[in-house]
Amino acid sequence: MITKGIILAGGMGTRMSPLTKAVNKQLLPIYDKPLIFYPLSILMLAKIRNVLIIVNKGQLDQYKKLIPDGKRFGMKINYIEQDKPRGLPDAFILGKNFIKNDSVAMILGDNFFYGQSLSKMLYECVKIKNGAKVVLHKVSNPEKFGVASVNGKKILSLKEKPKKPRSKLAITGLYFFDNKVIKFAKELKPSRRNELEIVDLLNKYKKKKQLSAEFIGRGGAWLDTGSIEDFYKTSNFVSSIENLQGFKIACLEEISLNNNWITKKSIIQSIRFYGNCEYSKYLKRIIS
Ligand code: TTP
Repeated sequence: MITKGIILAGGMGTRMSPLTKAVNKQLLPIYDKPLIFYPLSILMLAKIRNVLIIVNKGQLDQYKKLIPDGKRFGMKINYIEQDKPRGLPDAFILGKNFIKNDSVAMILGDNFFYGQSLSKMLYECVKIKNGAKVVLHKVSNPEKFGVASVNGKKILSLKEKPKKPRSKLAITGLYFFDNKVIKFAKELKPSRRNELEIVDLLNKYKKKKQLSAEFIGRGGAWLDTGSIEDFYKTSNFVSSIENLQGFKIACLEEISLNNNWITKKSIIQSIRFYGNCEYSKYLKRIIS
């Protein structure tokens, strides 16, 4: 079982400037919570309790005000700074002392996942022992994403932003790797845009016939919140679901309580931490 996870929460956020000039993208709100809560909730749903958050150099203090460590959620949460965006596989080079000899999950800090069978799918993903797994989702505009063609769960091809996509299956920002990922990431050469590319890393597993896929089905949603337009789309999505159902998406304390990682007493401490707000009112409802 994979028990460690990395959230890649740095980046320049160029597409969202000037919003991202002073504040990191992952700290901006998606409806009623900072964006970082959503990818963290996905790792927690996968029962991953040991997390490394990679942030931009100089922005650690901002993050620590919100999530000083994992105590509030009964988890171990540590940070490491990235001095500049060297590409997604840099996560495994920076995170090598965190990963040690284990397998690891990685989620992009700006990715939003939602759906009924998500926990079941995550359970399949953390089971991998050898190789790597990517999570795919059917989209109407695949040319904007990394695209995979598949035969069942086997990956046949991978291409970054193809002009003529072989399928509509986009590669989402959620990946699961065995320990070879550190060695493979170190072997990568920067691409033309001077970044280490995740598709190059995945291709190393594909060459060894060790790359497989899981899917978010039609009932699920995946949103990449990289642009201002996508940010507001995702916010509207969360507000619609939460207000219709009366449940919160990505309430971290609620997931922790369900995982039996914390008790009601720690939720009372969280309520004190957040102060008098809607999120606290929801926490009060959970424990009443
Ligand atoms: P991107 O969307 O590729 O980059 P970005 O968020 O900086 O946005 P823009 O393209 O508008 O400049 O990154 C995806 C996620 O990964 C995002 O949450 C930032 C994070 N990231 C890092 O933390 N370090 C990196 O080296 C890269 C490339 C991305």
